[in-house]
Amino acid sequence: MPLHSRHLLGLDGMPREDIQLILDTAVSFREVLDRPIKKVPPLQGKTVANMFFENSTRTRLSFELAERRLSADVLGFAASGSSVSKGETLKDTARNIEAMKVDMVVMRHAAAGATAYLSRIIEANVINAGDGSHEHPTQALLDMFTIREKLSRLQDLHVCIVGDIAHSRVARSNIFGLKTMGARVSVCGPATMIPRDVEKLGVEVYHHIDDVLPTVDAVNVLRIQLERDASRLFPSLREYHNFYGITRKRLEKAGRTITILHPGPINRDVEISADVADSEHSVILQQVLNGVAIRMAVLYLLSSKN
Ligand code: CP
Repeated sequence: MPLHSRHLLGLDGMPREDIQLILDTAVSFREVLDRPIKKVPPLQGKTVANMFFENSTRTRLSFELAERRLSADVLGFAASGSSVSKGETLKDTARNIEAMKVDMVVMRHAAAGATAYLSRIIEANVINAGDGSHEHPTQALLDMFTIREKLSRLQDLHVCIVGDIAHSRVARSNIFGLKTMGARVSVCGPATMIPRDVEKLGVEVYHHIDDVLPTVDAVNVLRIQLERDASRLFPSLREYHNFYGITRKRLEKAGRTITILHPGPINRDVEISADVADSEHSVILQQVLNGVAIRMAVLYLLSSKN
């Protein structure tokens, strides 16, 4: 059963069976990653270009590894050092890369909607690796995969996303994906970080983290985006940590076992204390490993749509 779309632009509106198919396909690829020889041939003869107009460690390396594990030929492109610095447009850059007979394009861009635009101007399959504050679908898929791996299901689990929901593509994709898969989703943060009308997405809103933790199964802790002018959103990093930081003391007070996720990169002792990040209930590094399997599944399933 193929995916309904030939691109992965976001999880908003993605059918449940498509998410299920990606998660189930990733189980097989996760098993490949435990083999002595971690390479399989499905993308042999295909060429994938990774176009990163914004900084990335995990997503860029994870896609590149997933492509190589599937035996694809891989083109790397980073905006710094490219002809973008000479004024070349996204459209011209993408068309020139596609002229080299590229089959699939993975793109990260600071502008929301950039990958949707790309999908309209080139023939290759397009995968969104994060577009502004809009969506980061493979991050949410790997988060869901990791929760399902740890807790055996998504249906009826209570997942709380803590932090700057208003500016987070990770939060948006997680909300869409988790709601579609039947989870109960809450968001928590200061009012300055919660988008107006977010309840219309079917989530509950909390402003006090200690009110929600006693009922949650998993917490997805968002990074404080220090590159933004965070001082507009809360008085100080220390105050944010005091009110919203996920600490061992806070988790003990909640009185239940809570699985801890974080998309990375982590600000230790700001949104999450260092000991919680490294604790037995943290699945942060499993997320990174599972990300390779999820991206292999997405590349494999989309390549069959050509
Ligand atoms: N999770 C995530 O998107 O990390 P990078 O910015 O390092 O890719």
